[in-house]
Amino acid sequence: MGKFNFDDIANRRNSYSYKWNIKENDIPMFVADMDYHVFPLIKEEIQKRSEIDSYGYIYTPKEYFEAYQGWLDRHHHVKVDTSWMVYSTGVIAALCSIMKHVIPEHSGIILLTPVYHTFSRVIEGYGHKVVSCKLRKVDVCYYIDFEKLESLLKDDSNKVFLLCNPHNPIGRIWTKDELKRLLDLCNKYHKLFISDEIHIDIVDPGYECTSMLSLDNNVITLLSASKAFNLAGLKSACVIVKNEELRNKIKDGMMIDNVGAPNYFAPIATIAAYNHGDEWLAELNEYLSTNKEYMKNFVEKEIPLVKIIHGHGTYLIWLDISYYDKDSTRFANRLREEAGIIVNEGKIFGDGGEGHIRVNIATSLSNIKEACNRLKLFFHKY
Ligand SMILES: Cc1ncc(COP(=O)(O)O)c(C=O)c1O
Repeated sequence: MGKFNFDDIANRRNSYSYKWNIKENDIPMFVADMDYHVFPLIKEEIQKRSEIDSYGYIYTPKEYFEAYQGWLDRHHHVKVDTSWMVYSTGVIAALCSIMKHVIPEHSGIILLTPVYHTFSRVIEGYGHKVVSCKLRKVDVCYYIDFEKLESLLKDDSNKVFLLCNPHNPIGRIWTKDELKRLLDLCNKYHKLFISDEIHIDIVDPGYECTSMLSLDNNVITLLSASKAFNLAGLKSACVIVKNEELRNKIKDGMMIDNVGAPNYFAPIATIAAYNHGDEWLAELNEYLSTNKEYMKNFVEKEIPLVKIIHGHGTYLIWLDISYYDKDSTRFANRLREEAGIIVNEGKIFGDGGEGHIRVNIATSLSNIKEACNRLKLFFHKY
């Protein structure tokens, strides 16, 4: 056992937890949020700061941006100037401002689907159009259809390419070659490239996810410690873009939308995570990969007609359940009612998502074992 105990999960019932606001015996494996106790220094820093018992407005300290800078340098081998960074109350908050203030009205926004469902909601909510470049699935692997992508990029009405790097929900870590190809194509057709890298630090041991920042500093890169360190409730993220004119446009939009000022506890939590959380994260990634392997082996052996897509990034598993049911909503509802397991139905992730479910494995191994046993019984009588 390592220094940190991931078997002992936090009891988040009755704490307004979105994930744990469920029936007594249900196992929540939906929203992308982890069950572990936070990296201890984060808790200490928050406790210490809460002692100053007047929680008024704060500014974003330079240490917040320096923490991103140090982390990107150590973990992603990229040198980023802190002046390229803008604080945001979340990745999606920043994306909304970009949709509203930066992108020309009624633009086509290209997505590699199936992809994180909120993207479509935001794109359509701001009057743009989702343009799906469906990933090509070969057995249990997904590939980018570059020919299709190029044909979509040629279309003048499509102005933006929005990447999820690594990819939610399939967990795919894009190779450097794939990322370079994407970048070259976007540059060739003068498209704005946005890379959502919120999951970038959740990778299986021995794997690395390349940040677009290491390939091009003018990609709008969206980062946050909120997935790797489970800080989503603190509402903080960072937009990084080198081009000053573009950055100022984003910054001004975020100011109008009032999403550029920090929560009282967000900067100190991120600073503790990024400056001191390397060892904790390494152990977390070990633990998550054990959970993934357990589920993969179990599904392959016990429920072989379900195809398990086990990427090496994110703590999300993608299951092809189409042999049993092509309607993922019906399937997920029955899974919740009859087996007490709550997952996301694949349909919400757009083109290519139907017939699949997304399963969050960021919980204790004992919960994973219990969930696997319930899945086996459930599938066998489906
Ligand atoms: C790819 C991706 N981007 C963004 C978010 C949400 O980020 P935030 O809470 O910072 O808005 C999530 C949450 O699951 C996600 O998976």
